[in-house]
Amino acid sequence: MTDYKLLNQQLESLIEGVPHFIANLANASALLYNSLEELNWAGFYLMEDGKLVLGPFQGKPACIEIQVGKGVCGTAVQKRQTILVKNVHEFEGHIACDSASNSEIVVPIFCGEKVVGVLDIDSPKLCRFDENDKNGLEEFVKILENELYNK
Ligand code: SME
Repeated sequence: MTDYKLLNQQLESLIEGVPHFIANLANASALLYNSLEELNWAGFYLMEDGKLVLGPFQGKPACIEIQVGKGVCGTAVQKRQTILVKNVHEFEGHIACDSASNSEIVVPIFCGEKVVGVLDIDSPKLCRFDENDKNGLEEFVKILENELYNK
């Protein structure tokens, strides 16, 4: 089980006072990818002209644009909430960037009331993510929001 208290402290010390948006998201994705077990992808999609565009990530090359309402990522934007998918093959409209993915969690990133992007994490293991991950990753995103957008 991931120690999210420790992970989130590590995130804070990595990005605190660093005035470089891309560098901070790149380090955040590297921290996740190397701290959580059984992942094959961890990274960000950022809203640009009304759609999600691939941002800093770790893992195999991924699809570049995702429309709001499409895939797990676009659904998280549309619903403005975290989407936890235990089996991606049972999620209608799932976008398979890496055929190794079997479960996924997507957390929306807010700037005030506006969704400005998502954190997307994929695992080759079915049912990899649970409520503990959801809570821990929502806290992770809150730290990013406070540091990157709400200063
Ligand atoms: N599976 C995502 C697409 C992005 S990749 O997983 C990196 C989705 O359905 O939105």
